Amino acid sequence: MKVLVAYYSETGNTEKVARTIHEELSKKHESLLEEVKKITANDLSNYALVFLGSPCHMSDVAAPVKRILGDLPHSPRFRLAGFFTHAATMDTIYKYAGKCTTSFEKACKEKEVAFTGCYSCQGNPSPQLSKSMKEGGAPLSDAELKDYFEDVRKHPSPEDLQQAKEFAKKILRELS
Ligand SMILES: Cc1cc2nc3c(=O)[nH]c(=O)nc-3n(C[C@H](O)[C@H](O)[C@H](O)COP(=O)(O)O)c2cc1C
Repeated sequence: MKVLVAYYSETGNTEKVARTIHEELSKKHESLLEEVKKITANDLSNYALVFLGSPCHMSDVAAPVKRILGDLPHSPRFRLAGFFTHAATMDTIYKYAGKCTTSFEKACKEKEVAFTGCYSCQGNPSPQLSKSMKEGGAPLSDAELKDYFEDVRKHPSPEDLQQAKEFAKKILRELS
């Protein structure tokens, strides 16, 4: 099966997840790893399965991914799986990254694309975002912020990447 793993990533977190999914898919399938900015939505039709990945920006998928989702062809033959990384903790994901999954679901529903689900995990925030969170952009005490940054810098962790592999394997099983 021909599979595409397309991703947008500014600081490497989403790219790590994309590479891991691609590595897993490549074991048994013809998988191509590509940056979203190098493709158009029309290119997706060359594949049976597409994994599309994004960082969370302002609670939603990043603009280049939003653009591809907006341009999806109608009723294509490919299936689409989403993945994204976010700085929000798993407890606050719905509040701070809630639109990501919805954007994948909504775009697929509108264009009648078979959507196979979404994987997400935390990704270490950039120095600039970390600075603004420390300066009051996050509703956390100093102690909570310290714990948060100590933990978030480890993500995507080996466990996150293992779960991304499991996500890819589950989708392949469902399709076989
Ligand atoms: C401009 C900008 C906006 C962001 N907005 C959010 C947000 O609303 N919610 C969130 O959980 N993370 C947010 N983040 C954090 C990123 O989603 C997170 O660090 C992600 O792992 C970055 O992925 P990348 O390294 O692939 O670019 C934002 C990051 C940037 C740069």
